[in-house]
Amino acid sequence: MAMKQTMSSLHFVLLLELLVIANINFSFCNRSSYNVGGCIESEKQVLLSFKQGLRDPSNRLASWIGDGDCCAWSGIVCHNLTEHVLELRLRNPFSGYTSYAQLDAYEMSKLHGNINPSLLDLKLLISLDLSGNDFEGIRIPKFLGSMGNLRYLNLSRAGFAGMISHQLGNLSNLECLDLGWNKLHVENLHWLSVEHLLLGITFQSCNL
Ligand SMILES: *[C@@H]1O[C@H](CO)[C@@H](O)[C@H](O)[C@H]1NC(C)=O
Ligand SMILES: *[C@@H]1O[C@H](CO)[C@@H](O)[C@H](O)[C@H]1NC(C)=O
Ligand SMILES: *[C@@H]1O[C@H](CO)[C@@H](O)[C@H](O)[C@H]1NC(C)=O
Ligand SMILES: *[C@@H]1O[C@H](CO)[C@@H](O)[C@H](O)[C@H]1NC(C)=O
Ligand SMILES: *[C@@H]1O[C@H](CO)[C@@H](O)[C@H](O)[C@H]1NC(C)=O
Repeated sequence: MAMKQTMSSLHFVLLLELLVIANINFSFCNRSSYNVGGCIESEKQVLLSFKQGLRDPSNRLASWIGDGDCCAWSGIVCHNLTEHVLELRLRNPFSGYTSYAQLDAYEMSKLHGNINPSLLDLKLLISLDLSGNDFEGIRIPKFLGSMGNLRYLNLSRAGFAGMISHQLGNLSNLECLDLGWNKLHVENLHWLSVEHLLLGITFQSCNL
């Protein structure tokens, strides 16, 4: 009987210890990048500064406000466990139009402005789609060439102009690049591998 009691209190102590350990580990996890039900704060700040550089007449980015979970914002796809931002899908939601009303909606939905280089801090970004917006003749930012994880980059019909910087050639994981329908030119194409060669320009087999 006495024996049994000791056993169960031992059990109890063990259980307590386990709980304590679990607790410590929980708070450790809590503070690390495994955010339970929320995006990563630093990445949220990046997105907010990116938004600040943009003009958004139709308020497509209305959900992008400070105190929310940025993984739930429109156009954002996060990793389902780590909550890192993986995709930025900001393509104009209107494409083909057959009426003036649709044309209006298309024009209104264009984002304009600057592309904040802090985007580079979205280290795990694999997909960036800014197509159908109007960046009003700016060059494609060189820093995009340093987003080494990008597999999908769609900048078509987005009002980019000028020289395509060879830095884009650094995107060694790129599976899909669409620079079509901008006023772009290149000095030479040495930086593009043949299968990346599209200056009119699309890859057909893009599964992302
Ligand atoms: C708690 O975390 C430490 C260090 O991360 C690890 O060594 C230990 O096994 C963890 N304990 C439990 C119960 O998960
Ligand atoms: C743990 O996370 C919760 C909710 O995600 C938060 O309210 C709390 O402040 C966090 N605790 C610490 C120590 O970071
Ligand atoms: C998380 O994503 C992986 C693939 O990226 C998928 O296989 C898995 O089912 C997802 N888990 C949940 C809970 O959605
Ligand atoms: C890029 O986006 C446009 C829509 O804005 C779409 O029509 C096109 O198929 C996309 N390109 C690729 C390669 O996915
Ligand atoms: C691109 O790669 C070249 C080497 O191939 C390197 O010299 C250059 O600094 C890289 N540029 C960027 C923007 O990462």
